Amino acid sequence: MKGRFITFEGGEGAGKSTQARLLAEALQMAGHEVVITREPGGTAGAEAIRGLLLACDGHDWGPRAEALLFAAARADHVERLIRPALTRGAWVICDRYLDSSRAYQGGAGGLSDEDILALHGIGSEGLLPDLTLLLTLDPDLAQRRLKLRDAGQADRIGGRAVAYHAKVAQAFERMAAEAPERFVRIEAAGAPEKVHALVMAALERM
Ligand code: TYD
Repeated sequence: MKGRFITFEGGEGAGKSTQARLLAEALQMAGHEVVITREPGGTAGAEAIRGLLLACDGHDWGPRAEALLFAAARADHVERLIRPALTRGAWVICDRYLDSSRAYQGGAGGLSDEDILALHGIGSEGLLPDLTLLLTLDPDLAQRRLKLRDAGQADRIGGRAVAYHAKVAQAFERMAAEAPERFVRIEAAGAPEKVHALVMAALERM
């Protein structure tokens, strides 16, 4: 595949969507074809599954069903949007991807990393990003940003307990330490333009 695949990962309120957009704009200015997308979602089928996963309707999926739904959404997204774009030579920028399943359904949900990777092998033929930017943020600051953004209306997963989100953060740190050739950690506490400069510096390696 000729294109490049970059993912943003991290906990809630770290500014992933803003940074994905700023990076997409910078790459477009440099003359590249850019596809900016998000998970869960990115295609009509995957957006429908997103509705099932995140609606606050009183129902809670168990971690296994949840992992399967995320993997199914990802399979559709990879097959219909991400792979064709990479084959054309586009840069694909995705707000969350496989590592979110490893952190949320794996580290925090209790499934093993092997099982999450096995689902990814079946669903998406194991497609991995070329580069994963892990935005890290002090949990208290993240909480304050979220209160402003969501005004108390967090989605089903975002609204889980502090202990769940602490496990998510630990899992991300572990993955980044284990695969330094793919992950770059980025401190996300600064102003958006400052964080964007760190993102652009991380791209140097590509
Ligand atoms: P979203 O509003 O898109 O993310 P954020 O809160 O970071 O802006 O919500 C997506 C939620 O789904 C978020 O709580 C993380 C969770 N998630 C998983 O649990 N597993 C996954 O594989 C993905 C992609 C997301």
